[in-house]
Amino acid sequence: MPLAIRSRLTRLDRVEQTPGPAGPPLTPRTAVVWSVLRAELDRRPAVELTVLDVGGGTGGFAVPLARAGHRVTVVDASPDALAALSRRAAEAGVAGRVHAVQGDGDALVGLIEPASVDLVLCHAVLEVVDDPVAVVSALAGVLRPGGAASVLVAGRAAAVLARAMNGHLDVATALAADPAGTAGIRDTLRRRFDADGAAALLVAAGLTVEEIHGVRVLADLLPAAVADGQAAALVELERTLAAQPPWRDVAAQLHLFARRPA
Ligand SMILES: C[S@@+](CC[C@H](N)C(=O)[O-])C[C@H]1O[C@@H](n2cnc3c(N)ncnc32)[C@H](O)[C@@H]1O
Repeated sequence: MPLAIRSRLTRLDRVEQTPGPAGPPLTPRTAVVWSVLRAELDRRPAVELTVLDVGGGTGGFAVPLARAGHRVTVVDASPDALAALSRRAAEAGVAGRVHAVQGDGDALVGLIEPASVDLVLCHAVLEVVDDPVAVVSALAGVLRPGGAASVLVAGRAAAVLARAMNGHLDVATALAADPAGTAGIRDTLRRRFDADGAAALLVAAGLTVEEIHGVRVLADLLPAAVADGQAAALVELERTLAAQPPWRDVAAQLHLFARRPA
């Protein structure tokens, strides 16, 4: 492989070229994030990691991580989500490794020991909380030195494209002009991010951003017949585009992988 190409390989490419143990089913929604997480887990094989999933909901990531042998605490504001998580963990036979805690992502002190966590997840949460700065500061504070953060946020450009392609040109215009990247009071999200803005949030909390990938670059834009009919090809295309601007930057979600300096 030419050197110029080799140097552009990301952790994602390296992992996808390496056969690994069977994991959760990979879909355009999850393949890129799992690839990055798997690389982190593979750095310390056979070690039971302490994982915290802030706003982990019903356990879409927590339960597979517990099945992989790790101890996962999910802190979530919703009792209903936590009840579903507990059921899901029991059905998967990992109830003993999944700890459900009702709480607020910006008030982890008192719930989680400072500097005690190897891997913290915060997926699809920063766009709905009151104060994303406080949440990121809290999750940085519970990470051990050298611990990693997996942060998934809603992408701003994708929301503009989606509104426009659905014919809502006025909403797309409002969203593009809004400093927070929202479409007004009926918007379900309180903010959306571009890659630089999301990275700046993590850096301000003392984290070093190692990688940024786009998640669902095309998946939400394609006709269902194409997305469903060529599911494996779509996963492959999403993986190919995930690390490459400009494709990365128009993804529905941006995945940032960051680390607390050792
Ligand atoms: C869109 S869901 C994402 C769930 C999961 N992380 C995922 O990616 O599938 C957002 C979750 O964040 C939780 N949440 C919202 N605000 C929160 C807060 N301030 N502290 C903790 N959890 C919160 C919600 O209850 C919900 O389960």
